[in-house]
Amino acid sequence: MGVEVFPDAVWAERVASRLGDKINTGNRLCLATGSTPSPIYHRVAETVSLDGMAVFLLDEFGGLEVGDPGRCASMLTRDLIEASRGSPVVHVPDVDAEDPWAAASRYGKLIGAGGIDLAIVGLGANGHVGMNEPGTSIDQRTRVVDLHPATSNAALAYGAAVAPTWGITVGMAELMEATEIWVLVAGGHKTGILNRALHGPVDPEVPASFLTEHDNCVFLVDESAHLTGA
Ligand code: GLP
Repeated sequence: MGVEVFPDAVWAERVASRLGDKINTGNRLCLATGSTPSPIYHRVAETVSLDGMAVFLLDEFGGLEVGDPGRCASMLTRDLIEASRGSPVVHVPDVDAEDPWAAASRYGKLIGAGGIDLAIVGLGANGHVGMNEPGTSIDQRTRVVDLHPATSNAALAYGAAVAPTWGITVGMAELMEATEIWVLVAGGHKTGILNRALHGPVDPEVPASFLTEHDNCVFLVDESAHLTGA
């Protein structure tokens, strides 16, 4: 596990450039949405062709209308796909299915079948990864989850019409099986939880701490998030 720290002003640019270098036709990416990766995806969309890539959305809120701005698929479309050169194949968890549990299991199998070359995840304010909330174990696979109140509120901040109570997330198990993982962390409001993830015990209460046990995982952090010496 590594940690790389960048000045705030160049963090997005540097991570975008690294992602641009990484992208190859045929890659299978698992991507988080949210405010952290948004500026990176915009930059990548402008500069790199995503033709031939398979993109798997990391997580999705249930109970929101298709097209709701708070849906992760809406954010991925807006931040990356719409503006991107080339047409990646985009896979999303089917939260609108009659049986979301079966849909989650199908999504996990689809991911498991070819694996993930690079997973790009964020760090939730409560230490979650995707929607793997505090209390998650490292071997849990893609599934339907109940959301922590902080995660529901995050959806409202993204513009959701109502606060979702559940979602489908790629599990810690599939993430730990990825060839490479990048954890993007930006902003002073993440300093405390970043410290716990990096320097606390590996703890189900901070699911991001599991990622420190992955052989090829790097935390790409801006100086604001890193201020206390995390
Ligand atoms: C959200 C999503 C995650 C995201 C995280 C951080 O609730 N479930 O996939 O990575 O929380 O979001 P942000 O980057 O907006 O702080």
